[in-house]
Amino acid sequence: MQQLLLVLTVALCVAAASVSPAWTLAGASSDGKGGKPLATPVTKDAATSLYTSPLRGGRPLVLDLSGPLIWTTCGGAHPTLECHHPECAHAHSHHPPGCPHNGYGVADEEDRFRCKCTAHPHNAITGASATADLTRVKLSANATDGGNPLYPVSFSAVASCAPGTHLAGLPAGAVGVAGLAGARLALPAQVARTQRLPGKFLLCLPRRGAGVAIFGGGPLFIPPPAGLGDLTARLTYTPLLSKKGDPAYYLPVNGIAVDKARLPLPGDALAGGGGGVVLDTKAPYTALRADVYRQVVDAFNRTLGRDDARRPAVAPFELCYDGNRLGPTRIGYLVPDVDLMLEGGKNWTLTGRSSMVDLPDGPACFAFVKMGGKRRGGYGKGPAPAVVIGGFQMEDNVLQFDLEKKQLGFGLTPWFEPCNNFNFTRVQ
Ligand SMILES: *[C@@H]1O[C@H](CO)[C@@H](O)[C@H](O)[C@H]1NC(C)=O
Ligand SMILES: *[C@@H]1O[C@H](CO)[C@@H](O)[C@H](O)[C@H]1NC(C)=O
Ligand SMILES: *[C@@H]1O[C@H](CO)[C@@H](O)[C@H](O)[C@H]1NC(C)=O
Ligand SMILES: *[C@@H]1O[C@H](CO)[C@@H](O)[C@H](O)[C@H]1NC(C)=O
Repeated sequence: MQQLLLVLTVALCVAAASVSPAWTLAGASSDGKGGKPLATPVTKDAATSLYTSPLRGGRPLVLDLSGPLIWTTCGGAHPTLECHHPECAHAHSHHPPGCPHNGYGVADEEDRFRCKCTAHPHNAITGASATADLTRVKLSANATDGGNPLYPVSFSAVASCAPGTHLAGLPAGAVGVAGLAGARLALPAQVARTQRLPGKFLLCLPRRGAGVAIFGGGPLFIPPPAGLGDLTARLTYTPLLSKKGDPAYYLPVNGIAVDKARLPLPGDALAGGGGGVVLDTKAPYTALRADVYRQVVDAFNRTLGRDDARRPAVAPFELCYDGNRLGPTRIGYLVPDVDLMLEGGKNWTLTGRSSMVDLPDGPACFAFVKMGGKRRGGYGKGPAPAVVIGGFQMEDNVLQFDLEKKQLGFGLTPWFEPCNNFNFTRVQ
């Protein structure tokens, strides 16, 4: 009897151990059986600084790197999933901040014995959450060889409906949000499963024009003046971390250096107890917690000097300069580098191309902001992040998120191959 119990216990443990974390994907297919990676153009909305892709039959969805769901307005008639469907449980694995718990679903009006699954779409811009049907929608993109679109592909994805009022704060014309976070019902994991592609996606966010997102991973070719081949072959890799309850992508940053001098931040000011360093496409510029912000701005101000080129501050930026006097070059302003010092001695180096923004008809400003009271839509509990790496700093970088290996490949594109040079002419 005891032996039987032991066997049972072991069997249960094995069963438990083999339930993989939500965002681990079954290894799939560079073996020819899966489909081709899917590409979609990415544009930046001038009014909101949010990035969108025309995924919903040509209508845009906002890309949200830290969102766990796809949500969109639904027509009157739409299919609904049942409460006992596994995807219903997954839709509830990340509960939005400040949203009441009201169960997995409600009785279906058409069949009172059927439980209809509902989810909680969260608008991280306004902070609003809703309760709405979990459904399936058709999304579309183009298959790609990494250099051009090849042919259109539509696919079905589990998504939450949302009332029209939930679109407040999104770019004009946008019909919802495509979460890209490390969650089973986020877009990258759904594309990987339905298209039998590797659990990877690439972002090449544009500063202007159309950049590209590729689901299923590289290669990525951006046409020349003088092409350099597959840009994903030139990336530096760092682990992706996750925080409990939070599907966003955290990086193991343990220091910040300005002009190669490490800032004297107290130990653990960034990592772990310090709240961590997270990537978020909803933040227009990198936001730093007040103590970190002060040190970074003061060090940059001091090492750049250039009192001759100084211009009055333009909120939210404190350090502004006459761009012409700073010596603009094709590779950006020649200003001190800001290094995000990663585990293993690697750096994500922000050069002038990523650290200075040219304000329209205005000066060039150091493009970092002090963190406000509330971040746009964080999920986990615990302390707010110390650093939120925002869209501006990710632009014209190739970012490859590998959900299977839980690592991020990153690298600035060469100045002559910015993200908006991706060739969207379909190959016939
Ligand atoms: C696919 O690519 C073609 C050519 O660039 C474009 O016109 C079309 O809108 C794209 N389709 C989707 C679904 O992205
Ligand atoms: C990373 O940055 C630090 C601080 O600027 C520097 O000392 C170090 O040499 C850099 N490491 C590499 C591999 O470039
Ligand atoms: C930058 O440094 C100058 C001195 O060179 C000082 O006058 C100015 O107040 C500093 N700006 C900020 C935002 O700290
Ligand atoms: C874009 O791709 C098309 C189709 O392959 C090709 O004919 C065209 O020359 C490419 N454009 C550039 C700028 O490389």
